[in-house]
Amino acid sequence: MTTAILSALPDEQSTLVAHLVHPQRLMHAGRAFWRGELAGRAVVLALSGIGKVAAATTATALIERFGVARVVFTGVAGGVGDGVNVGDVVVAQDYLQHDMDASPLFPRWEVPGYARSRLVCDAPLSALLLGAASACVSSASGQFDLNNLVPGGTRGAAHRAHHGLIASGDRFVSAADEAHRLRTTLRDAGHDVLAVEMEGAAVAQVCHDYGIPFAAVRTISDRADDTAHVDFPRFVQTVASRYAEHMVLAFLQKL
Ligand code: ADE
Repeated sequence: MTTAILSALPDEQSTLVAHLVHPQRLMHAGRAFWRGELAGRAVVLALSGIGKVAAATTATALIERFGVARVVFTGVAGGVGDGVNVGDVVVAQDYLQHDMDASPLFPRWEVPGYARSRLVCDAPLSALLLGAASACVSSASGQFDLNNLVPGGTRGAAHRAHHGLIASGDRFVSAADEAHRLRTTLRDAGHDVLAVEMEGAAVAQVCHDYGIPFAAVRTISDRADDTAHVDFPRFVQTVASRYAEHMVLAFLQKL
């Protein structure tokens, strides 16, 4: 049983490639895929690309070409929920596309043909990922002084692992009023979003179509506000790949 580890960031992928036993690089659909073993498990590592279409293509290739049995996604996200701070992690319980709107033909956010707006992640895989994420954030709280790294960092505060709804859309959210509007509009419709990113819901949909278990974890790199474009690259360079490395290895050991 091969596990796909889908990374959003090149730094995350290269950190994992460095740990691969029997690494083999293959090109397919203009993307590099790495086959090998991590923590004694057969894996394929891939980069999602940015945005929903690129991520859907990568997920489809992982399933069709590499025959993976499960897909696990790591990356970063903007925190929009109360108390979802830079340096926290969010394990997805389910996914929604915040830019899906085929109204009035279908209710807003509903994915046409699926009779629902939210796609649920695999519960057992998500539970394993949440365990790995919780262990990682508690040890990371002592390791990184996030206040020195990003303005949104919280000095001395314990970082948290959250579990809940993540929203994806083809848009980097980098304005406080936009983040607020996005969150409150969804919340008023019963969707309490913790974080926003640009790929996960697409991968969830592909995995749903193929009946492949899917789980995702996102480290919060910014608050999707007016400083998000500054916080994001700094965080990615310093913290995100280290988080991903720890979480993926701990997850695979428990699989
Ligand atoms: N990924 C990380 N931060 C993000 C943001 N603010 N908007 C969309 N995707 C993100």
